[in-house]
Amino acid sequence: MAGLKEYYNSYLCVFVILTITCSCAMASTSPSQAVKGGYWPSWASDFPPSAIDTTLFTHIYYAFLSPNNATFKFDISDSTASMLLDFTSTLHAKNPPVKTIFSVDGGGEGPVIFSNMASTGQSRRSFIESSIEVARKFGFDGVDLDWEFPQNPKDMENLGQLLHEWRAKVHQEAKATCRTPLLLTAAVYFSVDFFLSDVQRSYPVGSAKKNLDWINVMCYDYHGSWDTSATGAQAALFDPNSNITTSYGLRSWIEAGLPPSKLVMGLPLYGRTWQLKDPRSHGVGAPAVSVGPGSEGVLTYSEVEAFNRANNAIVVYDSVTVSTYSVTGTSWIGYDDVRSTTVKIEFARGLGLRGYFFWAVNGDHDWKISTQGRIYSPRVIFSPWSFQKECRSHQGLPFGPISSWFRYR
Ligand SMILES: *[C@@H]1O[C@H](CO)[C@@H](O)[C@H](O)[C@H]1NC(C)=O
Ligand SMILES: *[C@@H]1O[C@H](CO)[C@@H](O)[C@H](O)[C@H]1NC(C)=O
Repeated sequence: MAGLKEYYNSYLCVFVILTITCSCAMASTSPSQAVKGGYWPSWASDFPPSAIDTTLFTHIYYAFLSPNNATFKFDISDSTASMLLDFTSTLHAKNPPVKTIFSVDGGGEGPVIFSNMASTGQSRRSFIESSIEVARKFGFDGVDLDWEFPQNPKDMENLGQLLHEWRAKVHQEAKATCRTPLLLTAAVYFSVDFFLSDVQRSYPVGSAKKNLDWINVMCYDYHGSWDTSATGAQAALFDPNSNITTSYGLRSWIEAGLPPSKLVMGLPLYGRTWQLKDPRSHGVGAPAVSVGPGSEGVLTYSEVEAFNRANNAIVVYDSVTVSTYSVTGTSWIGYDDVRSTTVKIEFARGLGLRGYFFWAVNGDHDWKISTQGRIYSPRVIFSPWSFQKECRSHQGLPFGPISSWFRYR
């Protein structure tokens, strides 16, 4: 049923686009296509792009490029240029190919660089034009903004403006060059507002909805080395005592007006570790005294598996938070394994989300976890009306009632 409806909708969409707007053959991604993303850390020297199993993903993100802090343009060194070309050409040549997106972070400057860049029309323009130039020059399919995080309401307002101008430029460039428009995505905080912070602020949902293809919601890092008093599920789906959870965060985005079709749920391929105060008390939230194994208390999933085997750790699935932990002596590791990830992916599907992404693809162990979403397909989430709206706004056309489509025929 679902498949048929989607097929019908995409047929209509493509048909309308072809007949009314395109003298050039502009391919359009069906909005209902699932996103199964993964970030690839460019510093992972033992894990080249060629090692990625592309049957498990639709989009791979290059992490990261950072703009120059004065010009807000990208200065690409020769060695970075060859890495970018290797990344896109390798992943596009794989069977099946995946889409490639480069992710922009603040580098050593952190969020300040974005705050400065987004604050004036001229600096936004430099950044936007340079991002498009880099994407085209190196063969990327899109750009991702990883601004962690806008610090105040002014930053949020400027972010909204930036996305607006970015989309307009992307659209204009695609039209002028007769190419598929670049994808525009952003990695965002787990919740739409920063309810834990002293400085209250919310994302510009209206602009994100209108201008981004989707957002990658970072549903992790809820607990970690910054609080060593107790163990925690760093990516808890639920928590009876707190709103710092994936279910709360995703719902906050939906309630604020971001359609589920533009939400992509983050899944961690790493765990966070603690040293227990008393090995006999080892649940989620048990007293702890310091971080456990791993640099700053972080281990990738594959390192967790190796650690568990080497130390004969006890592995416990916690159905309250939907997470897994392992214990050996006073070492405690909270992480996601196949079981908890599968439940989360089902949850995402239940909410009608566009898909999920992993931080980061090199953390998996024999693709055990990444495989869990193989058959993920979003439920049918587009009424003909919202589908049409999305399809046409993607092409920069005004919205209209369905009957007006047929007038164009
Ligand atoms: C940019 O970064 C350089 C080197 O990190 C630093 O010396 C300089 O002060 C920064 N410039 C601005 C405008 O922040
Ligand atoms: C969670 O958020 C809701 C409203 O968004 C609030 O009513 C509730 O008290 C919060 N719960 C906790 C534990 O903070």
